Amino acid sequence: MEFCTHTSVSIHQVKTAALSVGIFTDGVLSPAADVIDRASGGAIRAVLKAEFLGKANTTLVLRSLTGVAAARVVLVGLGKQAEYSARVHAKAEQLFASVCVQARLAEATSTLVSIACPDTTVTDRARSAASSVSDAVYYYDATFGKPDPDARPKLKKFTILIDRADLAAAGLGLKQGEALGEGMSLARTLGNMPGNLCTPAYLGETAKKLGRQFKTIKVSVLERKQIEALGMGSFLSVAKGSDESPRFIVMHYKGKTAPSKTATKTTAKAATGPIVLVGKGITFDSGGVSIKPAATMDEMKFDMCGAASVLGTLHAIAQLEIPGEVVGLIPTCENLINGSANKPGDVVTSMSGQTIEILNTDAEGRLILCDALTYAERFKPSMVVDIATLTGACVVALGGVNSGLFSKDDALAEALLKAGKQAGDPAWRMPLDDAYQEQLKSNFADMANIGGPPAGAVTAACFLSRYAKAYRWAHLDIAGTAWKGGAAKGSTGRPVPLLFQFLLNQA
Ligand code: BES
Ligand code: MN
Ligand code: ZN
Repeated sequence: MEFCTHTSVSIHQVKTAALSVGIFTDGVLSPAADVIDRASGGAIRAVLKAEFLGKANTTLVLRSLTGVAAARVVLVGLGKQAEYSARVHAKAEQLFASVCVQARLAEATSTLVSIACPDTTVTDRARSAASSVSDAVYYYDATFGKPDPDARPKLKKFTILIDRADLAAAGLGLKQGEALGEGMSLARTLGNMPGNLCTPAYLGETAKKLGRQFKTIKVSVLERKQIEALGMGSFLSVAKGSDESPRFIVMHYKGKTAPSKTATKTTAKAATGPIVLVGKGITFDSGGVSIKPAATMDEMKFDMCGAASVLGTLHAIAQLEIPGEVVGLIPTCENLINGSANKPGDVVTSMSGQTIEILNTDAEGRLILCDALTYAERFKPSMVVDIATLTGACVVALGGVNSGLFSKDDALAEALLKAGKQAGDPAWRMPLDDAYQEQLKSNFADMANIGGPPAGAVTAACFLSRYAKAYRWAHLDIAGTAWKGGAAKGSTGRPVPLLFQFLLNQA
C-alpha cells in the first residue's frame, strides 16, 4: 500500500477513481463536499434527505458527475457534527476504503483528514486514516489451496487531499500509520495462521527475519537446551507436554538517538534501560490434561496473539525508526498432552526460584510468562509490559471492546490508557489489590497457578506480579480483543495500535 499527500485548490479537478467527501447529518456538508456540490451543479444536495442522510457507517457512490474530474464521488456519513470524533473518522476512512476494495479500484483519494475533529491534530488524523485503510485492505489467503488473485484487494494507492499548510503534518501521520498498518498486518497473519504452521519455530524464524530486515533489531532465538540452562523450569514444564520444541525469542531494538538519557539521569535515579515487551506465545492451547471443551478449541491457535503483537509492534517501530530502546521477549510453546505433560498437583520451580503447584494445566500462560518476566530483569528495564491472551474471565468482564490493564504503577497505567484512547484501541484498568493474592495460596508450593473462580483475570495478574517486582510493570489481558469469533473469525491486530502509540509517546 502506498500513501501520499496531495494539495489542490480545486478539489473538483482532482483526477482519481474515487473521491471521498464527508457529510454530517441534518444536511451539513464538509468543505470538500460543498466544493463538489457547487462544481457539479448541486449533485450532492440533490440526494440529501431522500437518498443519503449522512448517518455514520453509511456511504453513497455518485458516478460521473458533470464538472467533477473524479470518476466516483463517495459520500461518507459522519453522523451528527457535534458528536464527530476520532473514532467516527477512523471508521469512515475504513468504510471508504472497503467501498473502493469492493469496486476493485486500484487507487483512491480521501478528503476526510482535512475535517477538524476534537482532540486530534492533522498528524493524528492522517495516522489513523493510513492504519484504518491498511486494516480495510488486509486479506488473508496464506492457507488456501488456490489463492484467488482476483479476490485480493486491488487498492494500492491512497491519497490524502490536504491544505498546503498541513502537508508536512499529514505526511508524517501517513508514515506513522503505514508503519502501524504493516505491524498490525504481520500480527494478524501470525494470529490467523493455523497452529500446525505457526509453531514456536516459525515464530522464531519470523523474529530472525525481522532482524535481517531491520539493522536496528538484534535477534536471538534460544532453543530447549539454552532455555534449560537458564533454569526456566516453569516455562519448560508446559513445553515438555508437546513434541513441538519450544523457543525463547529475544529481540533488541535500538533506535538512532536514545531519548534524553542525560535529562533523566540528573533529575532522578530512574532506570534508563529499555522498555521491555513480553508476549505470550502459546501457539496452541488444548488446556493440557485439564483439557478444554471441543466446541471452540480451534480458536486457541490465537493464544499466541500477545507474541504476535510484540513482533508487529517491533516491526512498526523499526520501520518508523523511532528513537529509544525496546526489547521484545517471547516465550513460545504448545500446551498439549503427551506422556510428559504437566499433571494437576505437579510442583515446578520457576527461574526466580519460587515454586508453583499446577492445579490446572490450562492456566499455562502465566507459567511461561513468569520465567520471561524474570529474564527481563537482566535488561534493567525502565518498564515492562506483558501482553497475553491470559484469561476467559477477562472476556467475561470486558468483552471485545477493552483490553484489561493491570498495574500498580499509576503513571504507567495512565500512559497506557491514554495511548489506547489515542489509537482507538482502548484498555480498561482493572484492580490488583494485595487482598486477591490470598487466593493463590498453596499447601505444597510457594503459590498455586490458579486462584479459583472469583476474579480470575485479577488473580492471573496477581500471579504475574510476583515475578515483576524488580521494575515498573503493567499487564495487558487481550483475551477478548485479540481476535473475533463467529462468522468474522480472525485476528484483529490488537493491541499493536496501543503499544505503538505508547512507544511513540515515550520517544
Ligand atoms: N488461553 C486461555 C485464555 C482464554 C480462554 C482466552 C478463552 C480466550 C478465550 C488461558 O490459557 C486459559 O485457559 N485460562 C484459563 C485459566 C483458568 C484455568 C484459571 C481460563 O481462562 O479458563
Ligand atoms: Mn490455557
Ligand atoms: Zn492459554
